[in-house]
Amino acid sequence: MTLYSRIRPLAFTLPAETAHDLGKRTLRVAQSTWPTRTALSSGYQYEHPALEVDLFDTTFPNPVGVAAGFDKNAEVTHALCALGFGFVEIGTVTPYPQSGNDRPRLFRLLEDEAMVNRMGFNGQGMERVKARLEVDGTPGFPLGVNVGKMNSSSEEEAIEDYRRVFDRLSPFADYVVVNVSCPNTPEEFDEGSPDHLRAIFETLEAENDADVPILVKIGPDEPDDSILDLVDIVREFDLDGVVATNTSTSREDLESPNRKEWGGLSGKPVERRSTEVVRTIAEHTDGELPIVGVGGVDSPVSAYRKIRAGASLVQLYTGFVYEGPSTAKRINKGLVALLERDGFGSIQEAVGADLE
Ligand SMILES: Cc1cc2nc3c(=O)[nH]c(=O)nc-3n(C[C@H](O)[C@H](O)[C@H](O)COP(=O)(O)O)c2cc1C
Repeated sequence: MTLYSRIRPLAFTLPAETAHDLGKRTLRVAQSTWPTRTALSSGYQYEHPALEVDLFDTTFPNPVGVAAGFDKNAEVTHALCALGFGFVEIGTVTPYPQSGNDRPRLFRLLEDEAMVNRMGFNGQGMERVKARLEVDGTPGFPLGVNVGKMNSSSEEEAIEDYRRVFDRLSPFADYVVVNVSCPNTPEEFDEGSPDHLRAIFETLEAENDADVPILVKIGPDEPDDSILDLVDIVREFDLDGVVATNTSTSREDLESPNRKEWGGLSGKPVERRSTEVVRTIAEHTDGELPIVGVGGVDSPVSAYRKIRAGASLVQLYTGFVYEGPSTAKRINKGLVALLERDGFGSIQEAVGADLE
């Protein structure tokens, strides 16, 4: 029994967002001094050469990252890397501070190992995030920056929002993700329309003198045809990859009473569909477009499934909440064992192994 499995029932008596804030405060304290940070690293980091992934002109020490939304304001990136994650995606960052939807807006679905959130892009805005990255420094591990628009922005204003956040924060980023798939922000217009996407990508490409890799985050709820249309636009602009997937509005086969809450579903119930989306994209692009697989990863097997379906990297949020601080170490150790079992010398050899 791990320490976390003993603490978890207590933590889960708190409202989900309160527990999250408390956890983040603890991590912020832990990362603030060298001895505590070192203690975290020696307890939780796991290194193995087979886990390294070369992608986006950088080396990821392992393929298991923290998904967007956990560290929206770049407050605990150092602690997360000390906990053994191979990279962290901060954000979604918007140009100005935004309070998001009213609380409660984050719900656990215990029986389903899931969560529903309707945070609504709450965040401190790009200037605070930039200042923090300047003071704290980047974690020394790859950092993704997930960029978004203000909830009140019109279609034209949204393009300017993405441009401004990109301009401010891309100098800190190993890759930038354009988030057009959040199911719990107001729908002022069709964020996924081809014209809108083309306008965003044109604008960012024009701004991208430093050639920072740009990815797009997609949702799991659209039919495959629409997803592949989006992927074709990604390729038309020679973008660097996709993050698949965001949360889902589906409520199929859930038991927990909190299934009635509106918002985006994450965790175990989205695993299958998000892996299917990874596979569909990898097949469509002959494995040539890098994919970051996210949705329901909580174990070595679930991470490995996404990798074999075509993901070069994986991320998690909900699995971390349910499994605790040793999640990354456990997944990475298990991945090494799975690679050895199947005769692969590295993660990169296993990417897309299940594709026809
Ligand atoms: C509370 C919460 C907040 C999230 N906020 C964001 C966000 O700001 N931007 C984003 O792109 N995804 C956000 N996500 C989605 C996650 O990054 C991820 O795509 C999704 O949760 C599926 O992964 P999981 O099953 O490992 O949680 C959020 C998820 C949760 C649970």
